[in-house]
Amino acid sequence: METPQELYVRKIKDGSVIDHITPGFSLDVLKILGITGKDGEVVSVAMNVESKRLHHKDIVKIQNRELKPSEVDKIALIAPSATINIIRNYNVASKKVVELPSSIRGIMKCDNPSCISNSREPAEPQFAVDRREPIRLRCYFCGHIMEREDVLKQF
Ligand code: CTP
Ligand code: ZN
Repeated sequence: METPQELYVRKIKDGSVIDHITPGFSLDVLKILGITGKDGEVVSVAMNVESKRLHHKDIVKIQNRELKPSEVDKIALIAPSATINIIRNYNVASKKVVELPSSIRGIMKCDNPSCISNSREPAEPQFAVDRREPIRLRCYFCGHIMEREDVLKQF
């Protein structure tokens, strides 16, 4: 449990809290979730705050929205230590550490235009996770390397 001094943004009634985000990456998490702020979503963000587990972390709290598994899988690519808390009536109804599998299927496209996964009868894109953080992916078909910035460009 947090002490009051550690509470940077107030608790929410219902929604999702993405905690332990790699410091500096909360805006990328918002981008992955398609949150621009222009649709009236109620969102709070804390950046580079102190954390017990990591030295620093970012936090995103989204009211009245529960993240889908496909969204959680994308967040894992850029914030592999993030925790997804689903909040219902002020309680933590579920808490899950994101999972970064050793291979990634179907989330990203290969950036190499002549890769077989981009051909007219495409194979489902597949990547090996070469490095976890910052993420580095290697295309299973053509060996093309995708760094974190390349991954972020697709979201
Ligand atoms: N939280 C919130 N609103 C609530 C309940 C929790 O915004 N109604 C936030 C807390 O501020 C915290 C996160 O959700 O950032 C997880 O809450 P909790 O499990 O109570 O905190 P910790 O025990 O510190 O979590 P962890 O062990 O994952 O660090
Ligand atoms: Zn490829």
